[in-house]
Amino acid sequence: MAVKVKSRDILQHIAAYPLGKSLEEIQLELGIPTLRNMSEIENIFGCSPKVKEQLMQKLDHLFNYPDGSARCLSEKLGSFLGVGQSQLFIGNGSDEIIRLLLRAFLNSGEEAIMAEITFPRYKTNVTIEGGKPVIVPLKNGVHDLDAMLAHITEQTKMIFVCNPNNPTGTIVEKESLQGFIEKVPDHILIILDEAYYEYATSNEYLQSIPLLTEHSNLVILRTFSKVYGLAGLRIGYGIMDSFITSELTKVKEVFNVNQLAQAAAVIAIEDQEFRKQCIFHNEEGRSYLEKELATLGYSFFPTQANFMMVHTGRDGNEVAQELLMQGIMVKSAVGLGYKESIRVTISSMEDNRNFIEALKNLDMSR
Ligand SMILES: Cc1ncc(COP(=O)(O)O)c(C=O)c1O
Repeated sequence: MAVKVKSRDILQHIAAYPLGKSLEEIQLELGIPTLRNMSEIENIFGCSPKVKEQLMQKLDHLFNYPDGSARCLSEKLGSFLGVGQSQLFIGNGSDEIIRLLLRAFLNSGEEAIMAEITFPRYKTNVTIEGGKPVIVPLKNGVHDLDAMLAHITEQTKMIFVCNPNNPTGTIVEKESLQGFIEKVPDHILIILDEAYYEYATSNEYLQSIPLLTEHSNLVILRTFSKVYGLAGLRIGYGIMDSFITSELTKVKEVFNVNQLAQAAAVIAIEDQEFRKQCIFHNEEGRSYLEKELATLGYSFFPTQANFMMVHTGRDGNEVAQELLMQGIMVKSAVGLGYKESIRVTISSMEDNRNFIEALKNLDMSR
């Protein structure tokens, strides 16, 4: 039967987020005995064992609605970060907070500036809200902050800066980011997406929280999906002026973050040793890959995240497919905007070595 109902006009311009096949499906299809997943940018070390141990005790209360204001977690996070609880907004992943910021602040027709190659949900959500995404190319894989400033108009409502940037892993240097924040007029929201914050160990990485005192238009987004390894529970947070949190509260679902996610995040914050271990392994993997890739003659963007954009000099889809046939799954960067690159997740040393060995087997003369 032909469907006669019509969705909103704007949806004619939006495609659903492309979800890949499961690891098991791919393995079965290709008949590969073992497949190393180095394509998703989650925490390959999982989450703190304490989360697993202690979460069981929380199951008795599943019949209760969760705390709609996530008080316990806000208290814990507030003292951990040294910010007031009214400055924190807890979301069903930072993805939800991006959506709610647009819902609460972007009027139809207003502009949101973002990098050309960055986290794709900014553009999708701006479009859904009837806003206009203003796209600024990266410069050598890095946000071009001067060009972003030059794109500000009367219609600009917000600017997204993803730092470290997904998918390039690059950061904007401390001084230039601080200068940029100072130059953006204070009626324009600056959304600083720091999903990979914990992995950024360079001295050139800006510690942004102190800037909130002077800049009421600054919103910092972080997540428990990455270094804390809780992507499956969906929980992230934003740090911002209390006026912005109160506006977000008006547009959120009342019980947006489930009970287990809130409890797991509290336990994860308490286990900083686990986080330190993950950062240590990531650093180790990062230096190993940088050294080996350089030896093999590959160039890559300098990364401060748990993934790397590697330039292959050959079609990224083909290279990803050939690595897959050797049991290593990486993400082709063709769909991300780089035709001759792949994005690889920094993994266990065993997998990092397997990846390098698999690269050595590729025919790069093609
Ligand atoms: C830059 C960036 N921001 C936000 C998110 C969303 O994270 P969450 O799992 O907290 O929704 C991701 C997820 O990959 C990301 O890469």
